[in-house]
Amino acid sequence: MMGCKMFELLFWVSSVLCFACSARGFKPADNYLIDCGSPNNNTIGGRVFMADEFASKFLSAPQGVVGNTSKSITSSAVSRLYETARIFTGVSEYTFSISQGGRHWIRLYFYPFVYASYDLRLARFDVSTENHVLLSSLSVGAPLVKEFSVNVTTNSLTITFTPSENSFAFINALEVVSAPDRLILDDARTVKPSMGFQGLMWQALETVARVNMGGPMVSFDNDTLSRTWVPDQSFLIEKNLASSVSNIRSVKYVDGGSTPEIAPASVYGTCTKMNSLGDPNSNFNVTWEFNVDPGFHYLVRFHFCDIVSYSLNQLYFNVFIDSSMVVRDLDLSTYLVNVLAAAYYMDYVTDSAVTNKLRVSIGPSDLHDVYPDAILNGLEIMKLNNSYGSLTGSGTASTSRSSSKKKVGAIVSVSVGVAFGVLLAGVLFMFWRQRRQLACRRESKTWVPFSTNGGTSHTMGSKYSKGTTASLNSNTGYHIPFLAVQEATKNFDESWVIGIGGFGKVYKGELNDGTKVAVKRGNPRSQQGLAEFQTEIEMLSQFRHRHLVSLIGYCDEKNEMILIYEYMENGTLKSHLYGSGYPSLSWKQRLEICIGAARGLHYLHTGYAKAVIHRDVKSANILLDENLMAKVADFGLSKTGPEIDQSHVSTAVKGSFGYLDPEYFRRQQLTEKSDVYSFGVVLFEVLCARPVIDPTLQREMVNLAEWAMKWQKRGQLVQIIDPNLKGNIKPDSLRKFGETAEKCLADFGVDRPSMGDVLWNLEYALQLQEAVVQGDPEDNSMNMIGDLSPQINDFSQLDPTVSSARFELSSVDDLSGASMSKVFSQLVKSEGR
Ligand SMILES: *[C@@H]1O[C@H](CO)[C@@H](O)[C@H](O)[C@H]1NC(C)=O
Ligand SMILES: *[C@@H]1O[C@H](CO)[C@@H](O)[C@H](O)[C@H]1NC(C)=O
Ligand SMILES: *[C@@H]1O[C@H](CO)[C@@H](O)[C@H](O)[C@H]1NC(C)=O
Ligand SMILES: *[C@@H]1O[C@H](CO)[C@@H](O)[C@H](O)[C@H]1NC(C)=O
Ligand SMILES: *[C@@H]1O[C@H](CO)[C@@H](O)[C@H](O)[C@H]1NC(C)=O
Ligand SMILES: *[C@@H]1O[C@H](CO)[C@@H](O)[C@H](O)[C@H]1NC(C)=O
Repeated sequence: MMGCKMFELLFWVSSVLCFACSARGFKPADNYLIDCGSPNNNTIGGRVFMADEFASKFLSAPQGVVGNTSKSITSSAVSRLYETARIFTGVSEYTFSISQGGRHWIRLYFYPFVYASYDLRLARFDVSTENHVLLSSLSVGAPLVKEFSVNVTTNSLTITFTPSENSFAFINALEVVSAPDRLILDDARTVKPSMGFQGLMWQALETVARVNMGGPMVSFDNDTLSRTWVPDQSFLIEKNLASSVSNIRSVKYVDGGSTPEIAPASVYGTCTKMNSLGDPNSNFNVTWEFNVDPGFHYLVRFHFCDIVSYSLNQLYFNVFIDSSMVVRDLDLSTYLVNVLAAAYYMDYVTDSAVTNKLRVSIGPSDLHDVYPDAILNGLEIMKLNNSYGSLTGSGTASTSRSSSKKKVGAIVSVSVGVAFGVLLAGVLFMFWRQRRQLACRRESKTWVPFSTNGGTSHTMGSKYSKGTTASLNSNTGYHIPFLAVQEATKNFDESWVIGIGGFGKVYKGELNDGTKVAVKRGNPRSQQGLAEFQTEIEMLSQFRHRHLVSLIGYCDEKNEMILIYEYMENGTLKSHLYGSGYPSLSWKQRLEICIGAARGLHYLHTGYAKAVIHRDVKSANILLDENLMAKVADFGLSKTGPEIDQSHVSTAVKGSFGYLDPEYFRRQQLTEKSDVYSFGVVLFEVLCARPVIDPTLQREMVNLAEWAMKWQKRGQLVQIIDPNLKGNIKPDSLRKFGETAEKCLADFGVDRPSMGDVLWNLEYALQLQEAVVQGDPEDNSMNMIGDLSPQINDFSQLDPTVSSARFELSSVDDLSGASMSKVFSQLVKSEGR
């Protein structure tokens, strides 16, 4: 895969553990299991909890006694751990040496019983680590297991039990166990506004809920990492609205998705879904409710795996946290490489909770033509420590013994200009997308594609964020030194130019590790150019998708505005359609390219709560890789779409002639449907293989959109298709394609289909082209726009002898490539990259 080597280098995940490589299970480097107070080692679920005597070496100056209960406890598998306890009458510490830094679980087991003069229900105490208060003024009335995780960066971890005045502390069992580094990444999304969150690595987390949706309890001895997953029934608000599905064998783990360590197949293989009882008009949410503490942020991890669909792109649904929509029209098949039932997860960090309830809901998409359904396979909710480093309400700096030692300023607010703040956030967030979504991964602590020269002193950290954390500084990878860019392009050798656009020239280049890149060098800094430069970095870094072109880096040294992308071997879609002498693409290839581009755009429109509108969809902005896979490029004009409660964004009209949505032009109001219009024009362009504006033609033919619509409305589209396609398109496929393009070009945005609908229809057109046996009435049920008329297999229309309007494909400049913003000052022939 192109650019793979580069990305390998980009991965800076610090662990040397690789799930993909480690054949079987995760082996924790540190694994301390203590059955406190017990005279014997106890083996529970294959794990040996050591007897108290072996644990005494970890316990400094123990003050207190070992206690036991005479009552036999039979409630659960861990009951043997509960039979004994260590009781502390003074401050006591367990100190464990940590052989490998990183996230560690701390699990504390409490079971209150009465031993001699100690009634454990009366105990009251704090538990803390060096940096975090885990529990304060805890008293335990019923059996309790608390799970925390902290990133240990020193070579030891101390857990301190501090009895409250005149009271005592106790513990029945204790675990300190390494967790895989990949389990909690540094990044997530925030709920409101939807943007990148960064800094999870510094957080102490407390597990609030870990739920196996629609399935039984998965106990610690059946979990890959000794966690317990509880069933969701008790959290469901209206149980009758939900039903469960189980299909554990269908679960697939693929690169870029989840791993068995993140959650086992027994979790992904069951789900709770909308109980729509076959009613296609069902419209309700399935909601779960959890108890939380006000004032804290929570990490909400959704586990998804589409075990209910029969094919890709069948299931679309919305996901909410409290009243905020976090994902609209979630289509699980767009996230992973065309694999049904692939395990996937998403992390969101909530606002500071205002009430003591947190609700999570799933509900049907409002895309028409989609059967209302929604699923959730698993859910984890973890509390983040507050700014005092505490996980408990009252754990302020003054009450916490340990917080006085707390390092100050772990995260300092970034005092930089807003523009660069956004830029920075974007670039940082890009790491998250990348670590998740790229197939080729290898750990490497630093990014060193530009072998030294020592010239890498200019970093994001030093330039934009003096005094910020190491976590920011460590992400300097995306900045590429000017020297390296010069080297890669043979000092911007004119013979390496592969395109010229409004933004500037595009050069082919080769980094010194051999990675081929496309280098887009902006014209000397103008305000307009700078804005587009930043937009592009921001957009590309947020949106990582196999059908969106990837950004490899950028350079802003010496007033330069340079963007470095993955190199797309086969150039633009446009060049394959006309004017460049490439061999003609087959109909299937064209359909696949349209489908790929539609996927990319669909992702832009729906990948996050706020839609992103591309604004410059055209064949010159659809690039093809070495396998002719389509990727949407050029985000310089992109805009974040309307808030969910608004219907449009008002903005100055930008875009390219011939592709412009007339409604947008008239009303200057931008919605996703403007992209749909432009995409419709691209569809006709693909079908007819001619420029969208060709001034050399007769007047009624100049504008492709108008011309093609005329023929489409007459049902005679076949008359104007690319002569190379004649006889090679099945009529049904052509009809479906024509109808889809026609719908896209509807005068009013509301009448146009969504990108998701377009995608379905194109896939259907491909199926119709590929289908061997046709005329199966079942096929009609998949028909998304209009009906299939019955004359299937009628090839008479495609008789190549039927005369058709022919085009002189002259080599005149066409206007279609030029962005509106530039077209008045110069007529440029743009290849968009
Ligand atoms: C109990 O566990 C300790 C610590 O893991 C170990 O050293 C000891 O040999 C074990 N004893 C028995 C009887 O298994
Ligand atoms: C509880 O501890 C006492 C004193 O250490 C011991 O004599 C007794 O056998 C223990 N009881 C149980 C049930 O383990
Ligand atoms: C733990 O923190 C260090 C920085 O001190 C960081 O490099 C590392 O990636 C973090 N580990 C995890 C698993 O978050
Ligand atoms: C583990 O899973 C298997 C298969 O689902 C089940 O039969 C077994 O009872 C489970 N064990 C526990 C302890 O839950
Ligand atoms: C689902 O929940 C969200 C958030 O509370 C709400 O805005 C939406 O209207 C609900 N949808 C339905 C169909 O009840
Ligand atoms: C949690 O504690 C860390 C210090 O360990 C601090 O940097 C971070 O800001 C805290 N989290 C929140 C949400 O305040």
